[in-house]
Amino acid sequence: MKPFLDRSLMEEAARAVREAFPDVRPKLAVILGSGWTLPASGWQEKGSLPYRRIPGFGMPLVVGHPGLLKAYGTSSGDVLVFQGRRHWYEAADWNPIALPIHIARRLGCRAVLLTNAAGGIREDLISGQLMVVDDHINVLGLNPLVGNADWWSDPFFTDLTAVYDAELRSILHTVGVEQGFAPSSGVYAAVSGPSYETPAEVRALQRMGADAVGMSTVPEAILARAAGLKVAALALICNRAAGLGGQPLTHSDVLETSRQSADRVVHLLAAGIEKILGVL
Ligand code: HPA
Repeated sequence: MKPFLDRSLMEEAARAVREAFPDVRPKLAVILGSGWTLPASGWQEKGSLPYRRIPGFGMPLVVGHPGLLKAYGTSSGDVLVFQGRRHWYEAADWNPIALPIHIARRLGCRAVLLTNAAGGIREDLISGQLMVVDDHINVLGLNPLVGNADWWSDPFFTDLTAVYDAELRSILHTVGVEQGFAPSSGVYAAVSGPSYETPAEVRALQRMGADAVGMSTVPEAILARAAGLKVAALALICNRAAGLGGQPLTHSDVLETSRQSADRVVHLLAAGIEKILGVL
């Protein structure tokens, strides 16, 4: 287990991105979760960098995570798009998870938009639903700030009273309504994975107040708040959580649902990004 963030590696990574994208002045960084894509038609591509060329990042191990950092210019400003994420369960190492947040902060971003695939626990959260994350429950049993609380020399005890920014959440809802499909909202619980949950665990999460469950997002949200960035998160519900759908869970089913939802989701995401850029 590597609990400590390597600050010199983070600086090296940020330098590599700055050198690769000399003309990019991003205000927002987006991390795309399992199966999420963003063709971003109409935007100017200002740069593209495989994760393997960013020191310390490494390539995602999971199918559906391409491992490419893109920079786009939109009419409302520049955005960094991390196509694919690293997860804690891949290497028990916080460095690749913190890297996009560090890069975002170093390059001047004011906010991060985190996306993920999740299992629906609340009754209405069926496959294909989109959930704007209102709050989270950290069931990882771990916190990325352990040993790293002074990461950005912010307060030692990071306040998580309002992790998910109210204005950004409201923008995502508005954009959804404009696009003819209103997202839900709810509480996202993060487990470490990589196994899916047992039905008993899902029942326990339900009683704790979780509406959806996944294996990501929460560490990045905590790190981003510690770094003083605004946070928004969107969960694409790809299956009913274990024991609720009557079938075993597979990653290929998760990816198939996100593929089927891609068109709707991509338009909402692109419009949401432009609107968010407009208020940062
Ligand atoms: N559980 C955890 N992670 C997930 C799920 C799930 O049901 N679906 C997609 N990611």
